[in-house]
Amino acid sequence: MNYQSVVLAAGLGKRMRMGKNKQFLELAGKPLIVHTLSVFEQDEWCSGIYLVVNPNERAEMKALLEEYSITKVADVIDGGSERQHSVYNGLQACKPDGIVLIHDGARPFVEKQHIHELVESASAKGAALLAVPVTDTIKRAEDGRLETLKRDMLWSAQTPQGFQYSVIKAAHEQANQDQFIGTDDASLVERLGHHVDIVQSSYDNFKLTSPEDIEKAINLLRGREDNSLD
Ligand code: CTP
Ligand code: MG
Repeated sequence: MNYQSVVLAAGLGKRMRMGKNKQFLELAGKPLIVHTLSVFEQDEWCSGIYLVVNPNERAEMKALLEEYSITKVADVIDGGSERQHSVYNGLQACKPDGIVLIHDGARPFVEKQHIHELVESASAKGAALLAVPVTDTIKRAEDGRLETLKRDMLWSAQTPQGFQYSVIKAAHEQANQDQFIGTDDASLVERLGHHVDIVQSSYDNFKLTSPEDIEKAINLLRGREDNSLD
């Protein structure tokens, strides 16, 4: 099997409060985005990476690809003001067939096994996402009235999310036409009535969002290093 991946790095990383895009955050001596790109670089199923960046960070990103010998980046594309616009720009650069995965540059801990399950599922069903069961009790509040949602039906969506190219392209085009902005790519497909498969992933595949996440990431990297020395 094979797939192309769109990796998103064109955000501002405001909540990380480091005065710079969090993609450049150093974790165990390497920038966050390099950890994430390395997952795809080392996956033999990945045929090409489309890296979406801020136009003013393009040179710095390209220098990292060189420095860390990331060879699978087929194109570096300018992002847009919303994540969804960045994804759309990335999709337009991809080869228009086969399976495309869309992944947050800020999720370096996705595992190859889950990527492969996702690709198989997206090939079979057209659309799939990685997710984990919700562990908190979730309440819905409307006009002061509380409702407790059934936890066994709730999932936390992650990335990568995987699609047949034609499915995700059509979903983005419809969303653009309707001026609909979703919080993930699967939601654009769902709103067209298309089935999206859930592939259960790991809680380790979290997104680095705020400064509290840094220590967790460093500990995880340490744990993986120790395992590889066993
Ligand atoms: N992203 C993007 N283009 C945007 C916004 C986000 O490519 N216009 C990317 C980010 O670089 C990140 C991923 O989408 O890898 C998930 O977004 P998020 O975690 O919200 O990152 P930021 O938008 O960078 O952070 P913040 O919202 O705190 O500013
Ligand atoms: Mg954001």
